[in-house]
Amino acid sequence: MELLKEYNPYLSYENGELTLEGVPLKELAREFGTPLFVYSASFIKDRLRAYREAFPDALICYAVKANFNPHLVSLLAREGAGADVVSGGELYLALRSGVPPERIVYAGVGKTEREMLQALRAGILAFNVESFQELEVLSKLASKEGKVARVCVRVNPDVDPKTHPYVATGLKESKFGIDASEAKEAFRLARELPNVEPIGLHVHIGSQLLELSPYREAVLKVYELYRELKREGYNLELLDVGGGLGIKYRPEDREPTPHELAAVLNEVLTGFDGKLVLEPGRSLVGNAGLLITQVQFTKEKGGKRFAVVDAGMNDLIRPAFYGSYHHAVTLEERPERYEWEVVGPICETGDFLAKNRRLPELKRGDYLAFLSAGAYAFAMSSHYNFRPRAAELLVEKGEVRLIRRREDYEYVISPCF
Ligand SMILES: Cc1ncc(COP(=O)(O)O)c(C=O)c1O
Repeated sequence: MELLKEYNPYLSYENGELTLEGVPLKELAREFGTPLFVYSASFIKDRLRAYREAFPDALICYAVKANFNPHLVSLLAREGAGADVVSGGELYLALRSGVPPERIVYAGVGKTEREMLQALRAGILAFNVESFQELEVLSKLASKEGKVARVCVRVNPDVDPKTHPYVATGLKESKFGIDASEAKEAFRLARELPNVEPIGLHVHIGSQLLELSPYREAVLKVYELYRELKREGYNLELLDVGGGLGIKYRPEDREPTPHELAAVLNEVLTGFDGKLVLEPGRSLVGNAGLLITQVQFTKEKGGKRFAVVDAGMNDLIRPAFYGSYHHAVTLEERPERYEWEVVGPICETGDFLAKNRRLPELKRGDYLAFLSAGAYAFAMSSHYNFRPRAAELLVEKGEVRLIRRREDYEYVISPCF
């Protein structure tokens, strides 16, 4: 298969111009300016459908952290998804975007009382509780409010997800969840505490998992615990297996599909009669999106060719933060020619988007698209160097919608006055 289509089947060169869902991207760059995020709605819908077909009885809760644009969240909600949130802000956003509260799960090691109250009042499906103290505070708040908090205990299964250490969340030494050895004690506490109802278990071992064996290992451990707890008389109904399915970043990456994940989980979850919850983020939106940037200058220095572009680490921090690879292509189809350092305008040597990358001849004014920029890209962007954040567009079958205006200086300074 053509490489671009392996990233996103709606991405291709037509008459020498890069297009997404039939829309020529150079026209968008000229009309809306750069840096610019462009997402494909059909890709997102197809991905959610693939999850729903692979897991027909499960609740798919989109991990809002991957991309919190409300238009994407509402698109997914209309197609039947719920939301996995990790802050009061994400909860607000999910509700504003039309996600029904009974399809919202809330994880996070540091929920504040205010956030817990917000979720109690909204009536969410479950709190994924990460500590004994959180259980106690939740019980106190729920009692005061006259509500019952449904909780899943987030279990840390001590499994190596074989991913970047910053996004490995299921190892014993990480801050997430309650150790498997203490999970039963957490259930005993939850049973004793007023206004708390333990209804299930949650596990999320990490993000960008290209291998399924760590998933298998984690879910096996947690399902074993689930069965033991049921035998001990707990009335469990939810098993939330988190997100984490990896996507193609490098040309050689092979991403696992939801069907492959289902095959692994079905083998492990024999006799499971509760409700399965999944929390995919990156695999729903990551390869839906591109970041388009324009070359400002080129120069040769220290034996290297630099292309200085108008997107920086404030727009896409993943290369600087995780050393991540994002595949880059020119918007005009041209043969690869030189090795380039593609760097941003920010005053940090870490501000690069690509290193030693074979790309076509580049000159001032050319556009580049960085692929796999739908997840943890805009969502992790910042105003560093007082740079207003980029605009976001959603394209679908030739139609274009501006789903976030480009910020301006006045917008960025406004909270100061
Ligand atoms: C609790 C939880 N669920 C789901 C996700 C989504 O992960 P991914 O985007 O890799 O699918 C994350 C991401 O870190 C998470 O922390």
